[in-house]
Amino acid sequence: MSEDAKPTHKISLCLGSSCFVRGNEQNLETVENFLKERDLEAQIELRGLRCREDCARGPRVEIDGKVYLEAAPEKMLAILKSNFGE
Ligand code: FES
Repeated sequence: MSEDAKPTHKISLCLGSSCFVRGNEQNLETVENFLKERDLEAQIELRGLRCREDCARGPRVEIDGKVYLEAAPEKMLAILKSNFGE
């Protein structure tokens, strides 16, 4: 595989104010650490999204198009492991 291969997965966190204060600020750190520790930064694109109007059920996280609602920080690591392995 070439060095400049494009990311094959995408993680999107809602960074709207409601999701941000309800957990995505911490989730962002968890995701960044997860990618760094496993050296996955080139394979997984990490993006921030604006409010998707799911605020009441936030924090909202999307992984490869699958939406996770109420993705509280204590669940984030398990969500990542279920998608990308231990
Ligand atoms: S702030 Fe995240 S869905 Fe509204």
